[in-house]
Amino acid sequence: MERTFLVTGAAGFIGSHSVDLLLASGHAVIGLDNLRTGRLANLEQALRSGRFTFVEGDAADEATVDAVFAGRRIDGVLHLAALVSVPESFREPALNFRTNVAATDVVARACLRHGCPRVVFASSAAVYGDRAELPNRESAVPQPMSPYAAAKLASEELLLGYAASYGLQAVCFRYFNVYGVRQDPGSPYSGVLSIFTDRFAAGLPVTVYGDGEQTRDFVSVHDVARANATALIAEAAGSGRFNVCTGVAVSLNRVLDVYRRLYPSSAGVAYAEARVGDIRHSCGDAGALAKRFDVRARVEIEAGLGALVRGE
Ligand code: UD1
Repeated sequence: MERTFLVTGAAGFIGSHSVDLLLASGHAVIGLDNLRTGRLANLEQALRSGRFTFVEGDAADEATVDAVFAGRRIDGVLHLAALVSVPESFREPALNFRTNVAATDVVARACLRHGCPRVVFASSAAVYGDRAELPNRESAVPQPMSPYAAAKLASEELLLGYAASYGLQAVCFRYFNVYGVRQDPGSPYSGVLSIFTDRFAAGLPVTVYGDGEQTRDFVSVHDVARANATALIAEAAGSGRFNVCTGVAVSLNRVLDVYRRLYPSSAGVAYAEARVGDIRHSCGDAGALAKRFDVRARVEIEAGLGALVRGE
């Protein structure tokens, strides 16, 4: 049965991939984005589909969101619109609150008013902070270490509170280190894999901060989009928090081995001082997502980087 889903932050990295997958699954999608960091170019394919409607606007603006819901039945919301930069959240805490907390409230209350049963929310592994005991499980006590992480956690709590109060289904996904095409490599604080790919492709050297033995749970955007679409489409979703990760810790040195095979004549690698505030290791437990939604990340790092380099 064709259903209609609203994706906020549709023109962003994870948003546009999620839109593409929902459309490919035969559904109709409304995309809302203020184009602050999202790019219309990411939606080129979607805009040609005939089942995609784009609305330029801010998810924190009540009237805008209300107008999107008015007069149509929306079966679920994928709420991805966010201020995505952790460093920016330190510089602009008020904007961080508006974008990463207040907008969640606006979207959730619109769902309640208009009878939309489900919100799938983009939270982050950042809510865990720097925990010694890995892998991170959803039951761990969160330790936000940035305004960004605090806001993501606050939104989770708000949604789960509304779920208990009003029967909204709230699925909070804690994304780990997501990588893939359409991620902006433009800032020093962009994801390391988009920076490395961009630079190797241009024949430029990369910098590794620290000894390269730090690890991350790198998850392909295609696996993330599949988790998002599955949670929206599932017959019954319930509510809760779920890691979206591979469960595998991969070091930067291992990543560099993969790049050396992809770019045999690549430019060099320089090692520099570790970044202040860097987390040494991060890895999630993927069990809860598999159990509830039968979704497992299946793109391994070699294949995922190969696809990224080919632009897929
Ligand atoms: C992510 C966030 C970061 C936040 C942190 C804590 C992103 C892109 N980064 O960082 O803002 O503070 O979670 O929640 O969302 N690295 C290099 N060379 C580079 C770039 C990065 O060696 O050119 C290293 C970093 O120092 C780090 C690792 O690669 O050790 C991964 O970096 P990054 O992709 O920024 O992810 P997180 O460290 O997880």
